[in-house]
Amino acid sequence: MSNVKEILAKVGNLPPMPAVVQQVMGMMQDPNFSFAKLMETIRLDPGITAHVLRICNSPFYGLRQEVTSLHQAMVLMGSSQLMEILLSREMVGHFQRGQEGYRLAKGELWRHSMACALLVQRLGQRVGFTDEGALFTSALMHDVGKLVLSEFVSKSFAQIEQLVEQGMSFVAAERQVLGVDHALLGAALARQWNFPEVIVGAIAFHHAPDRAPRDRQLTHLVALANLLCVSLGVGPSAEGLATPAPATMFKEVGLKTRDLDMLLLELKDILDQAEYLLDLAS
Ligand SMILES: [Fe+2]
Ligand SMILES: [Fe+2]
Repeated sequence: MSNVKEILAKVGNLPPMPAVVQQVMGMMQDPNFSFAKLMETIRLDPGITAHVLRICNSPFYGLRQEVTSLHQAMVLMGSSQLMEILLSREMVGHFQRGQEGYRLAKGELWRHSMACALLVQRLGQRVGFTDEGALFTSALMHDVGKLVLSEFVSKSFAQIEQLVEQGMSFVAAERQVLGVDHALLGAALARQWNFPEVIVGAIAFHHAPDRAPRDRQLTHLVALANLLCVSLGVGPSAEGLATPAPATMFKEVGLKTRDLDMLLLELKDILDQAEYLLDLAS
């Protein structure tokens, strides 16, 4: 069996996204979205209700009064944030396992993915990007292809490393050795899970945002958050030496390079929040 066929067979073996997450995602893309229907769907799962209340009452929300009902929580959070909580809860189990192929210890892919998701929202706020839900989800899921590819990267690591040492990018080396890279594979997974095309595209082009045929600002924001996290040590060292985010990328999303100083000050908060959510969800 060729590598690509074997890899794609593994994609089919990954568990499907739970029905409730798929339903909520579908509802949120529906122009006739109804809050009552959303509530009706969520309340059927008591585990989700308990989780939503815990997050809502966590110190990160800083609410003065205790939230005691799902309805109250949903009014306070809004549907987009609710989707973020559902998705994070679902993905934490997958992401917190170690990804040896990428030299990621247990919990590291989660920390990286969540830090990117929280950071990209702050980048988005700074440039007035309104679809925070799509930003968060794209960034949380950008490296999802690594869940499948890690095992294959591990087997061929020496070959990939050699190509990277010769100056090839890590994703190009993945493509050359394995026939597919984690960005394209992640996009295939997201499509299989019925994610909207905007998110599929951002995952596919997170290492090559200039080649994105659509949603360029969102894709660049996700790519930038990824580079910033990696360059700050919150990410996979196996992807080669951390390169600073190019100034053109800041320009493309509408950020000034001096905004970076402000964001660095916020990073500690972001990492604390990622850690807290990991504890809460595991
Ligand atoms: Fe990546
Ligand atoms: Fe990444």
